[in-house]
Parts: sequence; structure tokens; C-alpha cells
Amino acid sequence: MSSKLRVLLLGATGNLGLRLIPALLSHNHSIVAYVRNTPKLESLLRPDLLSPLTIVQGDATDTAGMHRAIIENDCDALVCAAGTVVLNPWGISTLPRISEAAADAAILAARDRGGKALRCWFLAGMSLLDYPASTYFLADFVPFGREHIQTMKMLQSKPVDLIKWSILCPSAMRAAAPTPDLKILERPRKHGLLTKADIAPEWRDHLLSVTDLEACADFVAADFESGSMQWNLRRVGVKEKVV
Ligand SMILES: NC(=O)c1ccc[n+]([C@@H]2O[C@H](COP(=O)([O-])OP(=O)(O)OC[C@H]3O[C@@H](n4cnc5c(N)ncnc54)[C@H](OP(=O)(O)O)[C@@H]3O)[C@@H](O)[C@H]2O)c1
Repeated sequence: MSSKLRVLLLGATGNLGLRLIPALLSHNHSIVAYVRNTPKLESLLRPDLLSPLTIVQGDATDTAGMHRAIIENDCDALVCAAGTVVLNPWGISTLPRISEAAADAAILAARDRGGKALRCWFLAGMSLLDYPASTYFLADFVPFGREHIQTMKMLQSKPVDLIKWSILCPSAMRAAAPTPDLKILERPRKHGLLTKADIAPEWRDHLLSVTDLEACADFVAADFESGSMQWNLRRVGVKEKVV
């Protein structure tokens, strides 16, 4: 059965968030873009991509604002693509605050609705995946991405009946084309990614596997459409197929 969801999208002005807009629409979902800078979003999108959106202005660390946006717009799904990792050791990342505020907003909304949980995708990175056949995260070996561990532990501490979460863990994501080709898609792109729960798929002799932003966006949109719970409570590793 195919599900058409109303998705609260955090980070809609970012690299991935912008690609999620055509991807979600191509899978027949509708979008509530929750952004802190509405004119920025309006400047980044062509009118045909902008017009189907409902835009709510707010900060992604504001639980009450996102809770209100979910309830007032009747959202049944959420993508948290807001925030980024810090790469310098003295930097302070807002990612854990953003992830927890988004999770709490979803849980409050589920409680309001008598327990109907939202389907939620959170973004992390490959460093959150397991080093194969060990009890270590890849983040235990690389000097960045440890904030994703906080996101995972935070989500694992939440009631499983009130939030259906998954965490997408790509390595670097690149644009499929040098200039973003953001347009209404006649049909979904079909991401074609290899996927695996909790570890990188097809682990071979190299660590990094770059994926297209567009492919990751399609993966999330297709998963929402499938209605599958295959990735519920899991970290998901993704990799381009080598042809
Ligand atoms: N890019 C990659 O190669 C890569 C690889 C692996 C994982 N990831 C993860 O994927 C996610 C998205 O990455 P990205 O490259 O799309 O990031 P990005 O281009 O830096 O976009 C970040 C987005 O977050 C928004 N944001 C930041 N703080 C916010 C706040 N307090 N309230 C509301 N919005 C806020 C930004 O809004 P403004 O436009 O207003 O600043 C922007 O839309 C991140 O979690 C990142 O760690 C990225």
C-alpha cells in the first residue's frame, strides 16, 4: 500500500533539504517547510517548486514551534535535515539540540493525538555506523561526527510507541550536477542505493563512499511512500551501486 504523507521538513534551505523538496513531491507527499529564513527559501526555489509548499518560519531548536507546526498542519511525518556537524574540535554543534527538539515535538504531537506516532527520519553521518564485527562506532576512529552518537542515544531514550524514528547515515553527499537542478520531477528518480541497517553496505577495502544528495533524498521519500517499518529504530548505511 502506498502512503502519501504530510511531511514537516527541517533544513529545507540546506543541500539535502532542497533536494528533498522535489523528491518528496515526486512521491506524492505534501511538505510543510519549517525554516528560520523564509526569504532565503523563496530565493532558492522556482515558483513551481515553491507553490506546493506550506512554509512555517521558526527555529529548529524550538520544540513548541515545531509541535505547533505539526498540529496546525496535520503532519504525519518529519525529516530532520537541519544543522550540521562541526569539524573543528573546539566547535559546538547545535545538531543534538535540534534533533532532540524535533523528536520532542513529534512525541508531543503523538500524545495530543492519542498515541498516533509520526514517522521520522533524522540525518546523521557514516561515523554513526558500526565498525564491522565490533562494538565500536566509526566515530570512535575519526575526529568528527561524535554528535551523531548523542542523537542516537537521545532517540533510543524516547518511548518507541510515540515516535517511529530512523537515522540516515550517508558518508559525504555530492550534488548529481554542478548546478542544483531543482525542478518538479515527472516521476521519482529511483535512488538505486545499496542500504544496510547499522553498518555500511558492502563493506570492502575503503571507508568512504560518496552518495548523491538526490539519491539520499529519493531514498527517504520512497521509504515514506512504502509505509514500511523496515528501518524503524535503525541507523541506515547507504552506498552507491558500483556498476
Ligand atoms: N552534506 C554532506 O555531505 C553530509 C554528509 C553526511 C551527513 N550529513 C548530514 O545531513 C544533514 C544535512 O546536511 P546538509 O549538507 O544539507 O546541511 P546544510 O546544507 O549545512 O544545511 C543545514 C540546514 O539546517 C538549517 N538550520 C541550521 N540550524 C538551524 C536552526 N537552528 N533552525 C532551523 N534551521 C536550521 C539551515 O538553515 P539556514 O539556511 O537558515 O542556515 C540549513 O537549511 C546534516 O545533519 C549533516 O550533518 C551531510
